[in-house]
Amino acid sequence: MAYYVIVQGNNFPVTQYGGVGLNKYIINGGKKLSGRVRVHGAKNAVLPIMAAAVLSGDKCRIYDCPNLSDVNNTINIIRTLGCSATLAGDVLEIDSSAMSGWEIPEELMREMRSSIIFLGALVAKMGRARLCAPGGCELGNRPIDLHLKALRELGIEIREENGYIEAIADRIHPADIHLSFPSVGATENIILSSVCIKGETTISNAAKEPEITDMCDFLNKMGADISGAGTEFIRINGVAHLSGTDYKVMPDRIVASTLMCAAMTTKSEIELLNVRSQHLGAIVSVLRESGARIEFFKDKMYIRAPEKTGSVDMIKTQVYPGFPTDAQSPVMAALCYGNGTSVIVENIFDSRYKIIPELRKMGADILQDGRVAIIKGQKLSGAHIRAMDLRGGAALTVAALGAEGESLLDGIHYIERGYVELETMLQSIGADIKKI
Ligand code: EPZ
Repeated sequence: MAYYVIVQGNNFPVTQYGGVGLNKYIINGGKKLSGRVRVHGAKNAVLPIMAAAVLSGDKCRIYDCPNLSDVNNTINIIRTLGCSATLAGDVLEIDSSAMSGWEIPEELMREMRSSIIFLGALVAKMGRARLCAPGGCELGNRPIDLHLKALRELGIEIREENGYIEAIADRIHPADIHLSFPSVGATENIILSSVCIKGETTISNAAKEPEITDMCDFLNKMGADISGAGTEFIRINGVAHLSGTDYKVMPDRIVASTLMCAAMTTKSEIELLNVRSQHLGAIVSVLRESGARIEFFKDKMYIRAPEKTGSVDMIKTQVYPGFPTDAQSPVMAALCYGNGTSVIVENIFDSRYKIIPELRKMGADILQDGRVAIIKGQKLSGAHIRAMDLRGGAALTVAALGAEGESLLDGIHYIERGYVELETMLQSIGADIKKI
């Protein structure tokens, strides 16, 4: 349900957290960046880890937890289930000893489709779950058929009626599950559902994203017995009990990729702290092809952009370890400054090109035909632009940093779902960006 409030005669969307989506960035482009910035913990690792934490019925402490709106929304879900959850700085404490609920209210489910991973956690912990089907989102239709098919193969009774999903685990049993597509969320839901089922559950064609490995490392620290995470074949030996633990979340590889693209559009040299080179192979390869110099030293890296960004023949987004769909928009922004023509094919989501009309307002020369975008490098100028989704908003910020003149970016509540104070990170390395 979209609510609108009338402010000074304009209609502004109410953000998903009740605030009015009025916040904007004012960016004065063309400034070189320099210095170093630390990459925070990964949103897409901490969200499944938070769902896993409630399986312990104990206290868990999660370090380097990013203070994001998606994390705060998940904290609200955990509290609704009768647990306590508090984020102090970047330390999240969850105590699920008093967990009593198995239902997630619609308004919380609607906020964030990735709450669907609570389906597996609730079934495992409470033996049942009731939540509404997460709607589509800015990226297009977001089906959950693979999740539901897999849970049914585990013997979980799933009823879908008028937009709600009810799951009953009275006859839950181990199973050998093959995913027709290596869905990240479905892989996580199968693991969360089966981690305490006596016997062995296997997943073939599992998603290999590092965030799944992070969740499994956390679960194994709690006493689970999961092997093969990060490969296409995962084995889960059910255990009777999980206990609370402490854990440090992996660095956010998409935030790192975004900051690298900011170096590219501003022709700068910057240093990133808290990165894992093994998670960044695809993006590093593409940026090196466009002329960047990139070096890693343990958990640090530095990137030096070329004076003139080159083009990239073809980028096809794929499941990990292929080129990540979440980095596609920031790289598109970088390639708008390229010298020549680059081609992007978005294979994962239906509508991840909403930023193209916004980039065109800045003078970008981009042709789009379905999943294919053809980018001809140009100089961009500042404009009044609007974020339509999380990674698109970050990409428009990156584009504006390199543009001549001032840009006004609306809709930055999308960005705040996945970046902790992006403006502060960028200011710390010399960008002229203000949040108003
Ligand atoms: C996770 O989404 C991430 N979100 C996404 O990051 C990321 O883009 C995506 O994985 C791919 O890497 C979180 O981890 C919270 P999928 P998820 O299931 O689990 C289709 C961001 O910007 N599909 O691998 O939803 C689906 O429609 C977000 O941080 C089905 O058809 O991704 C999509 O086309 C965006 N049926 C494709 O698979 C299903 O049952 C990939 O989805 C499930 C998925």
